[in-house]
Amino acid sequence: MTEQVKTQLEYMDKISKINKGKNLKYHIITMGCQLNENDSEKIAGMLMKMQYAETIDSHDANILIFNTCCVRENSEEKLFGKIGETKKLRKEKGTIVAICGCMMQEKHITEKIKKSYPFIDIIFGTHTLYKFAEDLYNLLQNKKKIVDVIDIDGEIYEGLPIKRNDNKKANVIIMYGCNNFCSYCIVPYVRGRERSRSPQDILNEVRELAKEGYKEITLLGQNVNSYAGKCRGELCSPEMPLREVFLPQANAVRPYTDNTSLRLRYSEYGNALDQTWDFAILLKEVAKIDGIETIRFLSPHPKDFTDEVIEAISENKKVSRWIHLPLQSGSTNVLKLMNRKYTKEQYLNLVEKIKNKIPDVVLSTDIIVGFPGETEEDFEDTLEVVKKVGFEQVYMFIYSKRIGTPAAEAQDQISEDIKHKRFDRLKKLVDAEVQKNNQKYIGKTEKILVEGFSKNNENMLTGRNSANKIIVFEGNSDLIGKTVEIKITSEHQWYLRGKVENNIERTSK
Ligand code: 5AD
Ligand code: SF4
Repeated sequence: MTEQVKTQLEYMDKISKINKGKNLKYHIITMGCQLNENDSEKIAGMLMKMQYAETIDSHDANILIFNTCCVRENSEEKLFGKIGETKKLRKEKGTIVAICGCMMQEKHITEKIKKSYPFIDIIFGTHTLYKFAEDLYNLLQNKKKIVDVIDIDGEIYEGLPIKRNDNKKANVIIMYGCNNFCSYCIVPYVRGRERSRSPQDILNEVRELAKEGYKEITLLGQNVNSYAGKCRGELCSPEMPLREVFLPQANAVRPYTDNTSLRLRYSEYGNALDQTWDFAILLKEVAKIDGIETIRFLSPHPKDFTDEVIEAISENKKVSRWIHLPLQSGSTNVLKLMNRKYTKEQYLNLVEKIKNKIPDVVLSTDIIVGFPGETEEDFEDTLEVVKKVGFEQVYMFIYSKRIGTPAAEAQDQISEDIKHKRFDRLKKLVDAEVQKNNQKYIGKTEKILVEGFSKNNENMLTGRNSANKIIVFEGNSDLIGKTVEIKITSEHQWYLRGKVENNIERTSK
């Protein structure tokens, strides 16, 4: 734990003393991806330490937090609508209103908030999230509005409290930031450069989760397969047998791996203590942790999907057979304009390689339609790739201009009309492909972790199979948190329906 985190824990302690016995509540509204969800879990952890309890009703909260996303434009409209509504709440109830997350790293947004919504109490960015307790303490003491946003990349702060949203499935961040600068994307500007957590911190977190009864973890990062975590002055994994191994290349950066274990160049070259691990090694070591049944990861970049990563997945049944492989466009021309660093052919070759090595793999993807300069031919290339790959799931986005990104400056923007028409054509194809694909599940038995009741039908339970497919079935609440076998009876585009075949695990947490 760093000095900075210790200081923050002291602030949490001070606020906890101020708040004791007051029965205070918090409510967090999270927008965007799982990385934001994880940040919200950390904010919730800090709030719990400061004697705030969670409430699902924002009107009942003493502190209301908006954790924002800025990947696409519609999040801005959503946020401004919602914060406008809090003015009354703040006036009548004295609710503290704080806004944080990616959008706060954009200067034009914080300026707009300061000007049009001056009642907001705290604005903090992605790099200052760890200082939330200090900001809140200063607000409570001095009654002055706080704006705490910095541009420089934040460090990695280990040891902050966390309150997880689930007790069987957990997200584990392995790296922060992104170095890729895809020309449409705002993320590198608001999340900073890549910073990998050390392998020890990740493995310790997963071991703790396993001890607490968690069964499924998702390793998270903007670009997980460029993970490069340095071991900090101690052995990365106590499970690793330390033997002297002969390595022909004294300067090889990657530790030597074989089928049974990962061995470090230890005695020969004496630098085992500061080895750098890549994603393949991390995946193999995480898979060795007992108690964790399923490991997922989000999101990899096709350009960094190495043979070692494919091998690590194929060798480890615990690693989910669902791989999310963002395509963005099927046209080599557009991919170049997007700065994606692969061609249509390279993407298709990668898919072939993955399918050969992992025969039961299922793929999902992200696609942007209407990128500046996208011609009808380019768009047809995208349709062709979708047909060739046979994705299980496609997340489709209409290109959205992000201020400060190169693509926003392009002269050849596509009209809204064409963007929407292309989106509809892609959706029609995707729907048909997904339906075709789903047929293969009918009659099969799928092993799943039961997550809870379905949001759309509270008499039904849901869970996801290894391919991340939602499965809905009848059952009662004591199955929640257990692993069961479900026989699939029908497909419904975005989910499969089935019947409990066998309750595998009878003990619950
Ligand atoms: N417009 C539309 N979609 C975008 N994405 C990222 N930036 C933009 C943008 N400016 C999509 C990409 C990415 C997903 C998380 O969001 O497909 O993979
Ligand atoms: Fe954005 Fe590209 Fe980085 Fe993904 S890899 S976060 S799309 S810049």
